Amino acid sequence: PRKIILDCDPGHDDAVALLLAWGSPEIDLVAVTTVGGNQTLEKVTRNALAVAAVAGITGVPFAAGCARPLVREVETAGDIHGDSGLDGPVLPAPTFELDPRHAVDVIIDTVMAAEPGEITLVPTGPLTNIALAVRKEPRIAERVREVVLMGGGYNVGNWSAVAEFNIVVDPEAAHIVFGEKWPVTMVGLDLTHQALATPEVEAAIAAVGTSPARFTVELMDFFRESYRGAQGFDHPPVHDPCAVAYVIDPSVMTVRRAPLTVELTGTHTLGMTVADFRHVPGPGVTTQVAVDLDREKFWALVVDALERIGEP
Ligand code: BDR
Ligand code: CA
Repeated sequence: PRKIILDCDPGHDDAVALLLAWGSPEIDLVAVTTVGGNQTLEKVTRNALAVAAVAGITGVPFAAGCARPLVREVETAGDIHGDSGLDGPVLPAPTFELDPRHAVDVIIDTVMAAEPGEITLVPTGPLTNIALAVRKEPRIAERVREVVLMGGGYNVGNWSAVAEFNIVVDPEAAHIVFGEKWPVTMVGLDLTHQALATPEVEAAIAAVGTSPARFTVELMDFFRESYRGAQGFDHPPVHDPCAVAYVIDPSVMTVRRAPLTVELTGTHTLGMTVADFRHVPGPGVTTQVAVDLDREKFWALVVDALERIGEP
């Protein structure tokens, strides 16, 4: 199995990403770190521990990281994820304590203690922790196997016409992460808008019949109403588990290599991710973007993970 650190801001779809990572036999979840994003750091950290309680996660350090972006003011997504950041289901009390270390140090310690190429970083929130970690300990850029992140979009935005939430709330952090030596796969909105939790998908999840599966259905129901109201979707796009799914099985999506940058100065385009498809990418290009999702394969992975988690 592939060892991953999930850096997240739960968040309905982050919660599903965590369940997928925990339940998949192809993933060894070595740490979970949280970052202020969908809600305040305090709330998303509490939510991560609640999901851990639902899924019966044990033996994995959970650590809280940055409460605000590198440069900009805090911006949260209460319109989409509710006041708690994980509105909908009843959230159980935590069953274990947070790791006392800062998330940035957990990331650095974990990567430096592992063999080169062993750890994959899977960020599903703003990139603040990841950027700070590589600035504090630059050697992680060569030791990390790859960064597979949910964020951005080369063709579409959600927080603005052209920018996606995770990137636009901390664009300077994204600039750092995109520019490092490590390979980066951007699983952006172009891809995640294909991961819609339709009623058929929800029925397949409900059929698992366990409390984590019911929890997931309740999350999706709340998420659907948010997306109907705020963004005009019939069914909610379940962004974050797509990044985990790529680590489990890269054939779940097609990807395209291209130089990737983020807009830091635009008046109307701040946080826009720009993929340059004009040329055949040379060997120096270490960034790629996700293009097409195999929907059936993707949801089968989610259902399989929930089946394996069972009734903790
Ligand atoms: C991303 O923003 C958050 O609201 C979601 O959790 C996801 O990571 C989608 O733009
Ligand atoms: Ca997220």
